[in-house]
Parts: sequence; structure tokens; C-alpha cells
Amino acid sequence: MEIIKIENLKKTYQIAKRREGFLNNFKDLIKKEWEYKTALKGIDTSIAEGEIVGYIGPNGAGKSTTIKIMSGILYPSSGNVVVDGIVPYENKRVNAKKISLIAGQKSNLYWDLPIIDTFQLMKRIYKISDSLYKHNLDLFCETLDIKPLLNIPTRQLSLGQRMRADFAVSMLHNPKIVYLDEPTIGLDVVAKDRIREFIKSINDSRNTTIIITSHDIVDIEKICDRVIIIDNGELIYSGDIKTLKEQYSNKNCIMHVKFDGNVESLSLENYIIEKDEDGFCIYFDRTINTPSQILYKLLEDGKKIFDFTLTEPSLEDTIKMIYKNGCLSNINL
Ligand SMILES: Nc1ncnc2c1ncn2[C@@H]1O[C@H](COP(=O)(O)OP(=O)(O)OP(=O)(O)O)[C@@H](O)[C@H]1O
Ligand SMILES: [Mg+2]
Repeated sequence: MEIIKIENLKKTYQIAKRREGFLNNFKDLIKKEWEYKTALKGIDTSIAEGEIVGYIGPNGAGKSTTIKIMSGILYPSSGNVVVDGIVPYENKRVNAKKISLIAGQKSNLYWDLPIIDTFQLMKRIYKISDSLYKHNLDLFCETLDIKPLLNIPTRQLSLGQRMRADFAVSMLHNPKIVYLDEPTIGLDVVAKDRIREFIKSINDSRNTTIIITSHDIVDIEKICDRVIIIDNGELIYSGDIKTLKEQYSNKNCIMHVKFDGNVESLSLENYIIEKDEDGFCIYFDRTINTPSQILYKLLEDGKKIFDFTLTEPSLEDTIKMIYKNGCLSNINL
């Protein structure tokens, strides 16, 4: 069942121009000039209940803007967003009870208070029952190992400790939908793994819908069922990771060939070939050519093959290529 529906979502920011120099600063105060930045150019997508979706794209693509609109913080310029039956930015209170937003860059904890105080404050704000509060606190103390941190003010916590506490406080009210904006940024590999496991366990045990943005492809690969890729405010892919990987890998196979003796150059019609220290990389499309065809051509050409290996691009290579090309059609998916 669909829990989030986004139709033709557009967002243009209006930014006050600021010019250099004291006199110009003064002029800007009296008469403002504006410029406009279109962050979202018409996004259409939907997310099913219980899905974990990776929302990815290069810097400035519009990910955080979309998340802010979905979570009710920002108004769009046009388009429709419905989250669990309501328009989030028009029903902020109702929406806030159902969701949680965790941003790696910004904490949900009060900076000077021991974290247990923020927990209790949240209990009151969200009107969490005593039994649910106790149940969740015990659970998070165990799964996120936050018990030793409860009486420490946020400002004294390390980034990894703070993130664990942030996750706990944001999940206290059992949100139905969780938005994660770069939740593992700056964390070490162990801390990242712990957070990933926690995200998965929340999704498994509570069927929580999770939308995650991250520049760490391992986050996406390990956690997500599906990815939505946006670039420059436009949606360029929506589908499962396996399909993305398979289709791309099929079309971008690399055969590395080493020859007996010194081979200075190699030319094969319709193949991209690069020379490296100990051989040649031949790029080919597996849907058109097979490795044996290439080998046969080389042998026919009188080359003595010493060794060869086949490699497929990783998901990270795929994503890099997609970001670099700007759209999937350019890389011939
Ligand atoms: N408050 C704002 N005022 C003006 N422009 C903004 C504002 N917030 C974002 N933008 C612009 O909108 C575009 C999209 O920004 P957004 O933060 O959504 O990107 P992002 O995909 O989250 O990028 P990143 O991966 O760097 O976090 C950028 O060009 C950014 O400069
Ligand atoms: Mg962002």
C-alpha cells in the first residue's frame, strides 16, 4: 500500500542578492534584489508502506529539499505531496506525530541537557504512554548501547554517541515514517554498521517506512530495497538496486587481457580499449558481445593471450557514472 505520493513537485527558492561593500550592504537593506534557484523541477514518485528507499543524487540535487517538504518543514512552490493521507506542510501537528526526521548534520537533542532530559521532554511533547516509553528506552539502551550516555549533556558526546542518542530519541514515539538525511555522515565503519543494523531492525520489527539519503553507497546497498536517483531537481531512476546493477554491469563489462610478448597497441572495431601497465582493458556490452567473441577475435588477429580477467563495475562505479553523465540514457542503460 502506498504511503507517500508525490506529484509534479516543484520548489524554487527565492534568495536575496547580497553585494559586496558597505554602501552596497546599505542599499541592499533598503531595496532588496532577488534571485531564484529551482531546486526541484517536477518530481513524481511514490513510496509503499514498509519500504526502505534510498534517495540519492549528487550534491545540490534536491534531496534535502524533498525531505524537508515531505516532513512538513518546507512548502513546495507547486505540486502535491500526500503522506499517510495528509498534506504534511498543511497539517504539521498531525504529521509530526507520525514521522521522524534525523539529519546527520543537525541534532534533535538539546545541546546543554543530559540526553535523558530530552527523552523525557519528548515523552511529554508526543504524549508517549509510560509503558511505551519504558519499553522503547529499554530496547534502545540495549540495541544502541546508550545506557552509559543517558546522564551526559549532548555537547559532551562524540559524533557516534550523539547519533545513537539521536536515533533513540527520534524513535521514542514509534513513528510510522522515518526520514534520514545522511544519518551516517562522519561515522566510523563500526558506528555506521550499528546504525544500519538499527535502521533495518526498526523496519523489520515495526514495518516502518524509511527514506534515506546518503553519499555512502554501502548504506544504500546494505539497507535499501529500492533507490530513487535525482539529479539537478529531476528524477532519473526509480527501481531496485539489483536491476540497476545488472543492467549497467551487463552493458559495461571490462575484459582485462595480458599478452605473451610485447604488444604496443590493440585495435578492435567497435570496442573501447585502454592500455595499462600489464595489458589492455576492453570495454564491452554483454547484451551484444560475449567474452568468447572477443577472445576469438584476438586469436584470429594472431595475438598470444597469456591471461585474462572479467570485471563488472560495482554499484559505486555505476552511481558515479550516472552522476557524471547526468542521466541514464547517456550511459545507455
Ligand atoms: N534555504 C535555501 N535557500 C536557497 N537555496 C537553497 C536552500 N536550500 C537549498 N538550496 C539550493 O537548492 C538546491 C538543492 O539543495 P538540497 O539541499 O536539496 O540538495 P541535496 O541534494 O540535499 O545536496 P547535498 O547532497 O549536498 O546535501 C541547491 O542548489 C541549493 O543551493
Ligand atoms: Mg542534503
